[in-house]
Amino acid sequence: MTTGARKVAVIGAGNVGATCAFVLAERKVGKVVLLDIYEGFAKGKALDMSQGGRILNYDGRVTGTKDYADIAGSDVVVVTSGFPRQPGMSREDLIGKNADIVSQVGEGIREHAPDSVVVMVTNPLDLMTYHMQKITGFPHNRVVGQAGILDSARMTHFISESVGCSNEDVQAMVLGGHGDTMVPLPRYTTVNGIPVTQLLSEEEVMAICERTASGGGEIVKLLEKGSAFYAPGSAAAIMAEAILDDRKRVLPCSTYLNGEYGMEDIYIGVPVILGKDGVERIIELELEPHELESLQGSGAFYKEQLGSILGY
Ligand code: LAC
Repeated sequence: MTTGARKVAVIGAGNVGATCAFVLAERKVGKVVLLDIYEGFAKGKALDMSQGGRILNYDGRVTGTKDYADIAGSDVVVVTSGFPRQPGMSREDLIGKNADIVSQVGEGIREHAPDSVVVMVTNPLDLMTYHMQKITGFPHNRVVGQAGILDSARMTHFISESVGCSNEDVQAMVLGGHGDTMVPLPRYTTVNGIPVTQLLSEEEVMAICERTASGGGEIVKLLEKGSAFYAPGSAAAIMAEAILDDRKRVLPCSTYLNGEYGMEDIYIGVPVILGKDGVERIIELELEPHELESLQGSGAFYKEQLGSILGY
């Protein structure tokens, strides 16, 4: 039976938001509220998902709304609102348009769900997560961005294909910003404990790292309209579930650094423990000088954009 006490709101009923809401409903996390400025879009998708509950055996407690008052009492708010990129665009090309949307959404969350943990998905991810924390004024641990789970899942998939093994046995680690500067870490990537470097050649590993870093762009190009949503929406749902269930999952997420990894006042992807309070601990991996340099380079890229484009 679904527990009535827990509630999760998903802002934005587009492809990513709807996928996230559907995965959450299917995993029986509690009440799911889907909010969109286009009310019929949110209500229609929520009704469709609720009816599907009988087929997939979940309770179907999904509601649609355009009214922020309906997110009151949410333990977690997942924010997917914003424009997706189109072929030829980088995630950073979306900054201006999506920052305005995130400001409006953040005000709604601050007013109606002031105790929630916010999971950001809107691109450019690390910048929009920083912006959301500023708008809500929430403690940094209660604003976290989705990216590392998705990027690691992409790397996992490519490794499983190359090795010819199940996805389930691959553990990959991708740090840094969710963009071209992301930092796949083969040294922290294993196949059921076996270092990936023992199973694949250096060239194969390098090619996988490169394909991972441009993994979102590969899908944008194929779709020709919009960007990926099954894996991004599912990744956000898994983060929401880790928080709702206080699972203490160890996951790479965009989190606020205040000296960790030699970086300050920035949101960037590193491993964290995710539980009921959001980011409960930041894990500092021991990195080789070249790995740390890549991570800090990724941070410097976003730091520059925070200042020059968002005025922070
Ligand atoms: C991607 C987008 C959602 O990586 O950022 O697919």
